[in-house]
Amino acid sequence: MLGDDADLLEAAAWLHDIGYSPDLVKTGFHPLDGARYLRDVHGADPRLCCLVGQHSCAILEAEERGLADELAREFPPGDPTLIDALAYCDMTTTPTGHLVSVYDRLAEIAQRYGQGNVVTRFISKAGPQLISSVHRTEHRLCLAQ
Ligand SMILES: [Fe+2]
Repeated sequence: MLGDDADLLEAAAWLHDIGYSPDLVKTGFHPLDGARYLRDVHGADPRLCCLVGQHSCAILEAEERGLADELAREFPPGDPTLIDALAYCDMTTTPTGHLVSVYDRLAEIAQRYGQGNVVTRFISKAGPQLISSVHRTEHRLCLAQ
């Protein structure tokens, strides 16, 4: 479905949460920490860094954390098809790597972080966009078959 960008998506899918690694936490906001690490330590492809930085509506959580300007300036969103596809990968996979519906995934995240947590606030705001990303990707997958 993605042609020459398939490898880029696969790399982003593997690396998108690298910012959770305790060794590279700087701001505590994992999309930004991960993207900066890939850019500054590994000189990674800028498109990969932007996908990691913007993964799964990260800009909405960045707004909650007062980091939206930094994120948008350093890692602007790229190709919407790739952004959708990465959200699809993230939102249809459990933390242990099992296939899950986007609805169950969103519910699991909210339950894991609990009421009042910044991630729970973010996920309730981002939910409709993430669901749309998954549906658009499923549609593209159908068309590509
Ligand atoms: Fe993430």
